[in-house]
Amino acid sequence: MKITVIGSGYVGLVSGACLADLGNDVLCLDVDPRKIELLNNGGVPIYEPGLDEVIKRNIAAGRLRFTTDVAASVAHGLVQMIAVGTPSEEDGSADLQYVIAAARSIARHMTEYKVIVDKSTVPVGTADKVRQAMQEELDQRSFDPQSSLLAPEFSMVSNPEFLKEGAAIDDFNRPDRIVIGAEDDAAVKIMKEMYAPFQRNHERLMVMDIRSAELTKYAANAMLATRISFMNELANLAERVGADIEHVRKGIGSDQRIGYSFLYAGCGYGGSCFPKDVRALQRTSAEYGLPLKVLEAVEQVNNAQKSVMLKKITKRFGSDLTGKHFALWGLAFKPGTDDMREASSRVLMEGLWARGATVTAFDPAAMKETRHIYGDRTDLCYADNAKNALQDADALIIVTEWKAFKSPDFGIIKARLKQPIIFDGRNLFEPADMKKQGFEYFGIGREG
Ligand SMILES: NC(=O)c1ccc[n+]([C@@H]2O[C@H](COP(=O)([O-])OP(=O)(O)OC[C@H]3O[C@@H](n4cnc5c(N)ncnc54)[C@H](O)[C@@H]3O)[C@@H](O)[C@H]2O)c1
Repeated sequence: MKITVIGSGYVGLVSGACLADLGNDVLCLDVDPRKIELLNNGGVPIYEPGLDEVIKRNIAAGRLRFTTDVAASVAHGLVQMIAVGTPSEEDGSADLQYVIAAARSIARHMTEYKVIVDKSTVPVGTADKVRQAMQEELDQRSFDPQSSLLAPEFSMVSNPEFLKEGAAIDDFNRPDRIVIGAEDDAAVKIMKEMYAPFQRNHERLMVMDIRSAELTKYAANAMLATRISFMNELANLAERVGADIEHVRKGIGSDQRIGYSFLYAGCGYGGSCFPKDVRALQRTSAEYGLPLKVLEAVEQVNNAQKSVMLKKITKRFGSDLTGKHFALWGLAFKPGTDDMREASSRVLMEGLWARGATVTAFDPAAMKETRHIYGDRTDLCYADNAKNALQDADALIIVTEWKAFKSPDFGIIKARLKQPIIFDGRNLFEPADMKKQGFEYFGIGREG
């Protein structure tokens, strides 16, 4: 099948590359010429495990190409998959300008039937807005009812994406479910054909109306964010009452009705999805006069949790941190990605700098992105590995739970730090073990 993917970011690149891997002929469009030039020269603009190989394999097979040429991209795909960003507006609502711009450009160039697939995360009602914007563009083009040049038709589909950065290839290839919101049989048939290879093992396709599909994506992210904030709030209570949140996590996760996923207490969730999607769903619910009170609390708890490490640090070292120097392990919002959008590390570093401290940071994937955000500054040093970040620091702070941080050489940590102090924002270690090894250890929701 000929597929056009509009937007070559985390979702667009993974979707495009994986669909090409299944034998489809995929053309990826982006408005960023540097991104397309890099991709056409064999580079990959983001860090996502395994993506590099899938892209290279499919470029070599002639099934995957990249362009900035809108007319060519519209001409190419029967399926036009929109995977552009939907960042937060100031009021928390999803900014739909990129989605609408992509839709308008399809309508300006299309000459035959297309299936418009919205893969971006968009609020309920967006498909109607896309349809209207496309119709406006089509109405401006002159089609002669007497000639064969009739206005081309199109179908709208909502096909939200549930992949996780860091495991995106696997998630795309083995989805728990594929949600298809559609309102005509032709579009459903084409979607079923496109996703047929994913169906071999068991039925994964869920066909529903468009509004339900749009809401399903927000509901999923809001539920996951709720579990995290619930555990974080409980962790703070555990500290107060002398309980250990890790015991509590296991104690409740073992209940099959609850399960273990997304029950880890930590220093807050970040990334390009949870924060903005929670805000956007709150906004939608308020617009419809039914504000979701649970989500308000989820967001408040998360914003506070991002400062929990700083609170522990100032409690230990005092509120003026002038002259203090910290080693920071982990900058990405989670392991397996270089994405630093709304990352807890940013709130922490900015808080440390505001109190006069300096930081030497290391992340296995996000060093380039950190440099891109913060550039050269005297209060931030970039280490080339985790050990080198430690030298003469007053304490080690861990913010991202990269595998490589989970079994460190504690002897080296002790030898390089000025004093053996660890602030662990992801509960990687056992407080009792740390104590035995002579560390002053501060986790989340545990003793100390
Ligand atoms: N990142 C994730 O883990 C994830 C997971 C599921 C869903 N989503 C959703 O998918 C959407 C895309 O997210 P992302 O993280 O891939 O975004 P991204 O910012 O990484 O990529 C978006 C790309 O779209 C391009 N673009 C913008 N306007 C364009 C246009 N008119 N034509 C062509 N290209 C255009 C941008 O240049 C950029 O390269 C968002 O709605 C997001 O909420 C993201």
